[in-house]
Amino acid sequence: QESTRIYTKEEVSSHTSPETGIWVTLGSEVFDVTEFVDLHPGGPSKLMLAAGGPLEPFWALYAVHNQSHVLELLAQYKIGELNPEDKVAPTVETSDPYADDPIRHPALKVNSQRPFNAEPPPELLTENYITPNPIFFTRNHLPVPNLDPDTYRLHIVGAPGGQSLSLSLDDLHNFPKYEITVTLQCAGNRRSEMTQVKEVKGLEWRTGAISTARWAGARLCDVLAQAGHQLCETEAHVCFEGLDSDPTGTAYGASIPLSRAMDPEAEVLLAYEMNGQPLPRDHGFPVRVVVPGVVGARHVKWLGRVSVQPEESYSHWQRRDYKGFSPSVDWDTVDFDSAPSIQELPVQSAITEPRDGETVESGEVTIKGYAWSGGGRAVIRVDVSLDGGLTWQVAKLDEEEQRPRKAWAWRLWQLQAPVPAGQKELNIVCKAVDDGYNVQPDTVAPIWNLRGVLSNAWHRVHVFVAP
Ligand code: HEM
Ligand code: MTE
Repeated sequence: QESTRIYTKEEVSSHTSPETGIWVTLGSEVFDVTEFVDLHPGGPSKLMLAAGGPLEPFWALYAVHNQSHVLELLAQYKIGELNPEDKVAPTVETSDPYADDPIRHPALKVNSQRPFNAEPPPELLTENYITPNPIFFTRNHLPVPNLDPDTYRLHIVGAPGGQSLSLSLDDLHNFPKYEITVTLQCAGNRRSEMTQVKEVKGLEWRTGAISTARWAGARLCDVLAQAGHQLCETEAHVCFEGLDSDPTGTAYGASIPLSRAMDPEAEVLLAYEMNGQPLPRDHGFPVRVVVPGVVGARHVKWLGRVSVQPEESYSHWQRRDYKGFSPSVDWDTVDFDSAPSIQELPVQSAITEPRDGETVESGEVTIKGYAWSGGGRAVIRVDVSLDGGLTWQVAKLDEEEQRPRKAWAWRLWQLQAPVPAGQKELNIVCKAVDDGYNVQPDTVAPIWNLRGVLSNAWHRVHVFVAP
């Protein structure tokens, strides 16, 4: 019978480099994860923080690891057990870093509690053109910081020859105030449909990782101009840092091109109000970036620092996530540097009523949903089919104003259609067209990608007809 190798804590702690091997512990088990470091979906540098010691304090923060597939993966790297005497109480504080998170609305469908990620149920999502704050979808990567509005300062790094700014909330209120209606969509919206084709890594968002609010604040271009920035010839990027960070001080970060930031027509905001209220804590209190027409990941919440750099943000979420790849690319072959970061999003639509699997009345059926496109492109039409895409009808779009090239918000739509006599079931499909005549792909498989982003195939709902 094979005997289990026993290691002391000291031995484990001496394995922290590719030369010695990279070891970690979980409970009483010891793992050699040298081969896995470069494959880690959260990036090698994050994993290396735990090298030579216990995973628990880190995994308490990144609870994405509390899933069976993660434990199975780790089990492959097991090399032995910790010396029982060394299994002393952890020396690091492992108290719940999420204990101070705000209380949330019970209607939200929670995809992950820590960090908090949740979407409104479809029936509520299209009930209002403006999504009420308490049910606006929430996508957090870390605990929600608890910031004091009186001592809050936003640091704007000045241009060479310009001046750096340290802005209080009052200072921001002194810039001209702009209010615009903007739809925010996460790159992972509708990821659960990609999972049905083939497994992907990420939260199982359904159709609700999208919401719309009226945002008010100062224009980023006005604030940057005060710090001496201009639109220069060279390709440059505006980097944003959040005040949500892990215990090592790594903050959430992202960037957008300087050309977009400086363009008054792009209407990028440093927002301090959401639907007439101060921003709720989950949505970035006291200040967040709003980048109309651009993927949610760039709308940095709890904004702490803004700087202009020759390169994109070095943040994990700019460089190693939120990018699209061919269906042929897997985690062994992916080269994140080979694809651009997602900025503007493609045309999207989904059915929110009826729900998949529901039974509808015979006679007439009411179908409701949303449609939106990135980059300010307006939705000009939504087509709906009751027979899986053989025949189509045009849905009625809401009347909300769509400004040319600045159609930042979604359009809600509906269709009342007779149920063809004798039908026992319906395969309802929707697809939207934007003003560039961009359309949605008909199926998911050809756009499948390992991260499950940009999921915008025709949305399909199968329902039964009451006899
Ligand atoms: C994501 C495994 C250590 C931070 C993941 C995922 C796996 C994984 C499988 C993808 C999970 C999913 O999306 O379903 C591991 C293993 C580790 C390890 C086997 C140790 C041997 C760490 C450490 C940290 C960390 C020490 C932090 C200090 C992250 C982050 C993500 C991630 C930030 C991405 C979460 C997101 O997408 O928002 N890890 N991990 N990991 N991991 Fe780890
Ligand atoms: N900003 C910070 N500081 N931390 C975050 O985790 N998540 C981003 C973005 N800004 C995030 C952030 C992502 S991926 C999305 S989709 C949006 O915030 C979601 O904004 P919401 O929670 O207000 O809906």
